[in-house]
Amino acid sequence: MPMRIKDEELTAANMPAVGISSLPNDEAVPPAALRLFWERFWLRGKGRYQLQANTLELLTEVRPHLVSLAPQRALDVGCGDGRNIDFLQGIPSLRVLHGLDFSLNAVAKAARNMPANHNAVSVSFEVAECTRLPFSDESIDLVLACDLLNHLDGCDDACHECARVLRPGGLLIANPLSESDPGAEELRDSSMLIGSNTFLVRPEDPDGRYTAYIMRFATKSELVSTFAEGFDFLLPLIERERFDPPHGYPFRQEAHTHIYWQVVCQRV
Ligand SMILES: C[S@@+](CC[C@H](N)C(=O)[O-])C[C@H]1O[C@@H](n2cnc3c(N)ncnc32)[C@H](O)[C@@H]1O
Repeated sequence: MPMRIKDEELTAANMPAVGISSLPNDEAVPPAALRLFWERFWLRGKGRYQLQANTLELLTEVRPHLVSLAPQRALDVGCGDGRNIDFLQGIPSLRVLHGLDFSLNAVAKAARNMPANHNAVSVSFEVAECTRLPFSDESIDLVLACDLLNHLDGCDDACHECARVLRPGGLLIANPLSESDPGAEELRDSSMLIGSNTFLVRPEDPDGRYTAYIMRFATKSELVSTFAEGFDFLLPLIERERFDPPHGYPFRQEAHTHIYWQVVCQRV
């Protein structure tokens, strides 16, 4: 099981580089700040180990497609504390399940949270960048990317990487936030615009350590162009509303609504 990184060890200096490619004006953001944010979030966060109701709603609807696709090997990319793993383990055909996250603390938490295996699924965890997946071409049947694409400064690289590892016919399920999400308007005043509908949010850090996270709101046309290469939409690319419970610090402490894109597409 991976070791946690302790709080005092979390400094920008000991994090491997994670780039933000689109910062304007040479704004000085340590490249490690993004990963540092998530390391601290998973170390300290009181986030519950529980499948989010909205994810469950989407996955439950997609389940008939999952059952008929009969995936044997699945990847939960940006798996966080592993909250989606139990659902994935319940797919009857599944034999191998990988959780992957660039946060070591997330993966350590996910490994600790693992429910007992059922259906003899072999579960393992990887610490890696979603743009450099440690899997060979066409080796995965199902990729789940929940609440991940909206925390990247662009989703092309991650989606191309998912396309590379998916076998033809394999499924990608994702839920990027939409430009019509109310959060896009709220962040306009309080955070830094670093790209088209992409914000860098710098939460107050009581210890003065620099951390930041990205919130990105996608347009339909950019998702169509991202997925045009390598994918067909299995379900329509539509906006859906979801109700999120209060999140742990530094995310919102009150229940709120998001508008996200339903992305259920199949590798051609
Ligand atoms: C909002 S959480 C979502 C967790 C989980 N997928 C869920 O549905 O609740 C986003 C996760 O993506 C991870 N993450 C962010 N950027 C990443 C990257 N570039 N590569 C891999 N994981 C990343 C974070 O560490 C965090 O665990």
